Amino acid sequence: MEIDVFTLFPEWFDWFESQRHVRNALGQGHRLEYVNYRDHTPLSGGQVDDTPFGGGAGMVLRVDVVEAAMRARYGQDPTALRTQRRVVALTPGGRILDDDLVEELAAEPALTLLCGRYEGFDERILEHLASDRLSIGRYVLAGGELAAMVVCDAVLRKQPGALGHEESAVEESFSRALGGLPEYPHYTRPADYRGWPVPDVLLSGHHANIRSWRLEQSRLRGEREASTPEEPPARGSLP
Ligand SMILES: C[S@@+](CC[C@H](N)C(=O)[O-])C[C@H]1O[C@@H](n2cnc3c(N)ncnc32)[C@H](O)[C@@H]1O
Repeated sequence: MEIDVFTLFPEWFDWFESQRHVRNALGQGHRLEYVNYRDHTPLSGGQVDDTPFGGGAGMVLRVDVVEAAMRARYGQDPTALRTQRRVVALTPGGRILDDDLVEELAAEPALTLLCGRYEGFDERILEHLASDRLSIGRYVLAGGELAAMVVCDAVLRKQPGALGHEESAVEESFSRALGGLPEYPHYTRPADYRGWPVPDVLLSGHHANIRSWRLEQSRLRGEREASTPEEPPARGSLP
């Protein structure tokens, strides 16, 4: 798949691209490229934002700047582009990213991610240039770059061959294989550590029992997480 990230900070992604599963995905022909809004601004002095009409704090990313960057990249009117590929604006109030949305995006041949900054996007970018609004959670980051990395990470690791073991991406938390539930617990050696034993069933070699134990654990975790959030252990005073 092809992913284009529109950002003011393409260099943020240098670290991201050096990660193994991302390198694997790129090595298999998937493409991740960046467009810097500032390189295409029609305004002088590299201006990309402006003060909000009606007053208020912060600066707003301009619609003409985003349109110019998209036209430069795709050679067409972005209002038409969004009917041909998913143009995803990263914004705190958007549709929350979950495994269903990741599956949906991972199946697309091409994606465009628009990163906001400052006070966010001029609303007309969301209304007329984007096809989707996506949030990685109900909190506010300084910019869309980390959110774009989250989307790229989740989407690229779904591509066949990006992970070492093909099965790892199939049966994991929130996947269809687990009915949308959290994954069951994993253990490795040592089988007993400080008196914390690994459940006997996992050492039994009985595959059917292991399978049903795992599905049951997954169901129980789902129930627990749907009820009360887990409390952290009580903290004493610092030594
Ligand atoms: C400081 S935020 C703007 C917040 C905006 N004023 C608001 O209250 O919703 C700047 C940019 O960071 C990105 N961003 C921040 N939090 C995000 C989140 N939870 N999910 C996706 N993108 C986010 C968006 O691209 C946003 O335009």
